[in-house]
Order: sequence, then structure tokens, then C-alpha cells
Amino acid sequence: MNQILQPPNPFRLFGTKIIRFEKIDSTNAYAKSIAEEAEEGTVILADEQSAGRGRFARSWISEPGKNLLFSIILKPRLPADRIALLSLAAGIAVALAIEEVSGLKTDCKWPNDILIDGKKVCGILAESSFARSAPISLIIGIGLNVNQLNFPKELQSTASSISLIAGKVFDRDLILNSILEQLELLYLRIGKDESDYIIQSFKARCAMLGNDVTIQSGNESIQGIASDIDRNGALMITTTKGIRKVLAGDVTFKRR
Ligand code: BTN
Repeated sequence: MNQILQPPNPFRLFGTKIIRFEKIDSTNAYAKSIAEEAEEGTVILADEQSAGRGRFARSWISEPGKNLLFSIILKPRLPADRIALLSLAAGIAVALAIEEVSGLKTDCKWPNDILIDGKKVCGILAESSFARSAPISLIIGIGLNVNQLNFPKELQSTASSISLIAGKVFDRDLILNSILEQLELLYLRIGKDESDYIIQSFKARCAMLGNDVTIQSGNESIQGIASDIDRNGALMITTTKGIRKVLAGDVTFKRR
């Protein structure tokens, strides 16, 4: 049974309608199924997912009732080359919210993982949904490890939660509200073509820049130094054969 929550601030667009589930297969899947008729800014929130999905067809595992699992439905009327900025903006919004509630220093790993002390605390999955009669919808799915203290053995060296790192319990609704507030502000900036602000905010938190990276992009593995992020959100890699521009991929990096 789902419950529709009242908005935290009636003048806001994001989170004006929050549809909350105790358990669902995937908030992204549900958001996609209602995207055509849903209003922009609608949020699907769940305590538990039975088929949470991640990037590259991986699954997203999260202890029930401990973390934030939600998707936001966007209907951006933006030139195609600005769409990639939305998922960078989601990463910045999460980073700002974590910094606000915990004071912890975050690291945005391109395109949109959030790390703290080198461990992943948040993953973001952006998926588009095409409809016959409506503008394209973009679903931004966010999985943020908030209060989970125990992780499966195979994830312990790479994953963590805000609570595990800060040593205290956090209010999930407060963090959700802060993420939605920050993301809405960044979304308005993208609409006004203030792309440079988004790129600069992301780069200011991106420890990967200047380091050796290997990127799996489609069937190709690209090695080089992550040298920059261009104004459309693409990662620039300096390789032995010149500069490569990568729009999507899975990155591993070593600090120099
Ligand atoms: C990744 O790092 O691979 C992205 C993970 C995204 C997980 C979130 S949890 C809420 C939303 N619903 C899903 O099924 N996936 C996203």
C-alpha cells in the first residue's frame, strides 16, 4: 500500500508529491511506469526494493528501512547536450545534502557516484522514458546509504554509509528534503544555461581529476589521465594517443 505525503514546502516543484512505498520492486521502474501522466518533480520513495537496479544492469542492494531509495520524475525542456548535466547535478545535490547534515567531506566520482573516505555511499541511475504524447521524462534514481551499519562481506572494502562514517544516526526525511531542495535549485540553473556553475561545483568535489583512470565504455577500455569535464558533462581523458571525450562509462581510478 502506498501513501502520498504532504509537501514540505508548497512553493517547491520537487517533492510536491511524494509517493511512498514500504516495499516495491524498483522506484525507477515504478517512476517510469507513471512518468507519462505524473507531474514533474514527483518523487517515488521506498523503504525496501526487491529488484533495485544500478548502472550497467547491476543490482542495488540496501538494508530495508535504513537508507534512502527514491526516484524523481523530470520533464526537462532542454537541448539534448544539456541533459547529461542533470545527472551530475543530482550528484552535487546529494553531496551538498550530506555535507549539510553531517559536515563530512564528499567526493563526486564521475559521472555520479558519491564517495566518502574512498567508499561509495551513493549511486545514481538516470533513465529516460519516451512517450508518444508527452515530452521525454528523465528518471533520476538515487540510492543513498544513510543508516546501514552492516554490509555484505564482498562490499565491505568499497561501500559504506553516512552513519558508519560519522558514527551517528541521521534523519532520512531531512536528508531527502535537502537533496530535493538542492537539486531543484541546480535544475533551475541548468534551465537558465548556467552550465558552468554545475561543472565548477562538480569539479570542486571530484578527486578523480588529475588521476590515472581506466574507463570501460561500451566494449572499449580507455586508459589515461582524467584531465577535465567539459561544459556538457563529458569526461576528458588524456591518453597516449591524444585526448578522448567520454560521455558514459564505468571508471576505476588510482590516486597519484
Ligand atoms: C549505481 O551506482 O549503479 C546506481 C544505483 C542506483 C540505485 C537507486 S535506488 C533507487 C532507484 N531505484 C532503483 O531501482 N535504482 C535507483
